[in-house]
Formats: sequence, structure tokens, C-alpha cells
Amino acid sequence: MKLIITYLLKYKRYFFINLLAVFGVAAAELGIPIIISNIIDKALPTSDLNLLYKLGGFLAAVAIFGSIGNIIINYASARTSTLILRDLRGEVFKKIQTFSPEEINDYGISSLMTRTTSDVFQILNFVSVFYRVAFMAPVMILVATFLVATRTPSLLSNLLIVIPIIILGIILVVILSRSLSERQQRNLDRINLVTRENLTGVRVVRAFRKNKYEKERFQVANETYSDNAIKLFRLMTSIEPIFFFILNVALVITIYYASGRINLPNSDLTIGQLVEYNDFQFLVMFSILTFAQLFIMYPRTMVSARRINDILDREPKVKNNENALTHVKDLGTLDFKNVSFSYPDSEASVLHNISFSAKKGETIAFIGSTGSGKSTLINLVPRLYNVTQGEILFNNVNINDYDLKYLRSKVGFISQKAILFKGTIEMNIKFGKHDATLDEVIAAAKIAQAHDFILEKENGYQDMVSELGSNLSGGQKQRLSIARALIKKPDIYIFDDSFSALDYKTDAMLRSVLKNYAKDAITLIVAQRVSSIIDSDKIIVLDYGNIVCEGTHDDLMASCTIYQEIAKSQLSEEELSK
Ligand SMILES: Nc1ncnc2c1ncn2[C@@H]1O[C@H](COP(=O)(O)OP(=O)(O)OP(=O)(O)O)[C@@H](O)[C@H]1O
Ligand SMILES: [Mg+2]
Repeated sequence: MKLIITYLLKYKRYFFINLLAVFGVAAAELGIPIIISNIIDKALPTSDLNLLYKLGGFLAAVAIFGSIGNIIINYASARTSTLILRDLRGEVFKKIQTFSPEEINDYGISSLMTRTTSDVFQILNFVSVFYRVAFMAPVMILVATFLVATRTPSLLSNLLIVIPIIILGIILVVILSRSLSERQQRNLDRINLVTRENLTGVRVVRAFRKNKYEKERFQVANETYSDNAIKLFRLMTSIEPIFFFILNVALVITIYYASGRINLPNSDLTIGQLVEYNDFQFLVMFSILTFAQLFIMYPRTMVSARRINDILDREPKVKNNENALTHVKDLGTLDFKNVSFSYPDSEASVLHNISFSAKKGETIAFIGSTGSGKSTLINLVPRLYNVTQGEILFNNVNINDYDLKYLRSKVGFISQKAILFKGTIEMNIKFGKHDATLDEVIAAAKIAQAHDFILEKENGYQDMVSELGSNLSGGQKQRLSIARALIKKPDIYIFDDSFSALDYKTDAMLRSVLKNYAKDAITLIVAQRVSSIIDSDKIIVLDYGNIVCEGTHDDLMASCTIYQEIAKSQLSEEELSK
């Protein structure tokens, strides 16, 4: 509720406009039955045309006044709820951007998506109903009851019997709908999860011929959702017939009660008054019903609000220190000092006591079997995770003391899995530097050995890349993601197995031009192929998270058994003897 109130207060201008309009509409809606009652009782029996015209004109004016008020209320409600939707989505999105992989994993991508879309939408629905009924309904109920008490007191008892009956009916529905609607949101999460996994893994699903299995999995999720939805709908749609049933029964009782007394000499009840009472009775019951909507929506909205707040209140583990450094001259040295690391939620340490140093112009390479911790190690440099023990220093300052954005602006990171975005090739490369000129884009693409294949595309640099780059080959994606990092001209390059999908020739070309381009930077390369790292200033061999050997290729060939084995399995006799 706090979340919603904060936002309602933000747009209080509309709130006050809405409040004013509510009083106008209430006055109009409650005035109309009184005017009609006067027409029936005073103008019609006496055939007083003058009075009839006067009352008729008044009636029309009040109706127009009421409509204008209604338009204003609807405008204020639509405006506020969409503004809140926009703000809230923006906030949630912004917050998610600060999350490290750890937090993202905790929620799961599907759940983050439902939270930014349908949960936020639930808040919009609630706010829009809130605006229309939260004030209107109570004002109507109170004033109409007051008018019945003063104008047709003999019928007040009737009204006072009807009100509790309708309230009881509604309470019943609210209670029944609560658990159903809470379940509904979880079911939606599940559908999103299955859909997302299937869409992203469509090739794997087909290759393993798991279509049927996946179809069944989806069907289960889909049916659970729809079963629940049917129950909920059944409940909601039963409200209207029940409402009208109660209304009509009340009408019959009123007419029965009034039939013996109406227009009799000593009775206080006229036909006009009877019609007026019926109108008031309808208004009161209808207002109770609309007011109840808030209570029906409330539990589901609170679930959504909690899910949103959960994100907004989450403190990301990787965050800025106070007084974080934002301006340092070039990052010239990188030191790992006794760094150990274990993933959150797992006891086992993935890196043990890693120490090494690198300085400007140097290339440090990491090699080791799969799962030996290479990606983990280099992910620590741009602080995708915080180290568990030890420290990483740039220019002898702990990386935790740098502003995160600044730190990451200095790092050109090419992840193991090349991820591109929907847009043109040019846009994708410019992702590394938004204000880059086309010349810079081309220069970067040339170094990344991407220029030629880009020109072969139908629209060259303007060719469209589809979502996640699925219309490009693995090697093409890798080269574009390399170009994207090169254009940034960072102080540190990190290549995580970024040459693996390139053929040997392209790999060799790329490395030789890169050497010159990155001569003022620190370069960290993870590779599986010895040939990719043979020229590095230092090669670090990792095994189960430990540094087992380090040195140049020649040093390692002379002294490191693991390295010798890797090299022997890959290089020809001729290359080995070089
Ligand atoms: N997000 C994660 N949560 C928990 N454990 C992880 C996570 N990512 C990796 N690991 C574990 O950490 C260890 C090292 O993984 P890492 O990805 O660093 O290996 P790698 O050397 O890069 O392997 P590869 O050559 O296959 O890319 C593995 O045992 C892996 O299971
Ligand atoms: Mg890896």
C-alpha cells in the first residue's frame, strides 16, 4: 500500500481534480431522482407545462453537469494510472540493471519479466479503479442514505435491511476469490518460464526431439492457469446476476410495502417518492458493489506490490562504496592478491589463492580444462561478482573503491557467449561507444576481422541482427562482439574464449592486428587453443581453481607437465619445435 500511496501523492494534482469532480457527480446523480420525483408528483398531475419545462430543463442541465464530472474522473484516473505504470516500470527496470548475476538468478528471468509487466499492470488496474470508486462510492452511500432518511423515512428500514445483505454477499466473494487470485500470479510465472525456456532453447528441443515432452510441460502449466482462471471468472461473473436478483427482490418488497399506502390521504408516500427511493436504493447498492471491487482487487494487488517491492528494496551485493573513485588516469596495472572465490549459495570454493600481476601493454593468457575457473576468474575483474577473499587492485587501488560504472567503462569485456541485440550491425558495434562515427565503427570491425563478412551482407553495416544475434554464425557473432569492445578503447581487454569459433587463419590475423591496437592496454585472454596464446607475455595454467604453472610458452614447455600435455595434443611437431 505504501508503494501505491507514494505514487498517488506524486500526482496529487489529479487527485484533487478527481475529488472535486466526485462531489459534482455525486450531486448530479443524487439530484436527478429528486427532480424526477418532483416532475411526477407536482408537474404531471397538475399539467403545469411551465413547471414541467422548468424541471425538464433543470434535469438536462444536471445530467450534463454529471457527465462532465464523470469525464473528468475518468480522465484523472486514466492519466494517473498510466503515469504510475510508466514510473513504476522505469523504476523496476532501472533497479534490475543494478543487479549482478547473483540477484538475477535468485529471481529468475521469467519472474523478473512478469514482475515488470503483469504485476505492474495489476497496480495500474487498481489505481484506476481506486480513483473512480474510492471516494465516489462512500459519498454516494452516505448522502443517498441520508436523503432517504429525511425525505422518505418510512422506507429507510427497507434500505437498512438490503445493505447488510449485499455486503454479506460481497464479503463471501472476496474471501473465495482471495486464494484463487494469489495463485493466478504464480501460475502466470510458470507459463512464462516454460515459454521462455522453449523459445530460447528451440533448437535444442528440436534436436533432442523433445517437442512432445515440452508440449506436455506447457500444457500442464497452461491448464493449471486456465482451470484457476475459470474458477475465478465463474466467481466474478456470478456477482452481477446475484446483485440484480437482490435488487429486484428489494424492489418487489418495496412495492408490496408501498402498495397499501401510496397516495392515500393520510399516507406520507407518493408515487414520485417511491420512484425516488428506488433510484436511491439502486445507487446505494451499486456503489457498494463498485466499492467492493477495491476489496476484490486488493489481495491480488498486494501480492503484485509485494513482488515489485521485493525488487525495489533488494540491495544488490555488487555496489558502489562511498566516495568511489571516478577519475583516475589510465589503469596501468592489475594485481590479483590471494583471491579466492565461491559462488553465492555454494560452499565449494571455485578459485583458490590466485595471485598475479599485469601491466600496461602486457597480454596474460589463461588456459585449463573446462570448469577450471577461467571464466569465473575474469568475471571478477569488471566486478560481476565480488571476490570472497583477497583483493583485486587497479593502479594499486582495490577495485571495490572505484565507481562501478567508471570501472566497467574501462573494461572491454568479450564474454564467452557472444550476445548481440536486435538492431543493425552498426548499432550493435556502437553499443560499445554511443557517439562513435561510422569510420570508427568500420575501423573496429576491420581489426575484429568482421569488415569483410559485413560487406557481404545485403545491407552491409545496416543489415539487421535479430534478437540475440540468432541470424549470424557463431564466429560472426564473436567478431561483432569483439568489435563492440574494441571501439570502446578500454584500458583492459578481456577475451573469454572469444576466438574459439574463428578458423585458425582469422584467429591469427585478428591477434596480430590486435597486438598493435591494444598496445597501451592490459589484455587478458582465456583460450582453449595453445596457438591463440603462444605469444602471450605470461600464460597462467589453471586446474581446479588453482594456478598450477605460469610463465611464457617456452618456460611452460620446459617445466609444466599439464601445459605440455595440452600443447602436445594440439600443436604439430613442427610448431612444437619452433
Ligand atoms: N553461476 C554459477 N553458480 C555456481 N557455480 C558456478 C557458476 N558458474 C560456474 N560455476 C562453477 O564454477 C566452476 C568454474 O566454472 P567456469 O565457468 O569458471 O569454468 P571455465 O574454466 O570458464 O570453463 P570453460 O572452459 O568450460 O568455459 C565450475 O565448476 C562451474 O560449475
Ligand atoms: Mg568459461
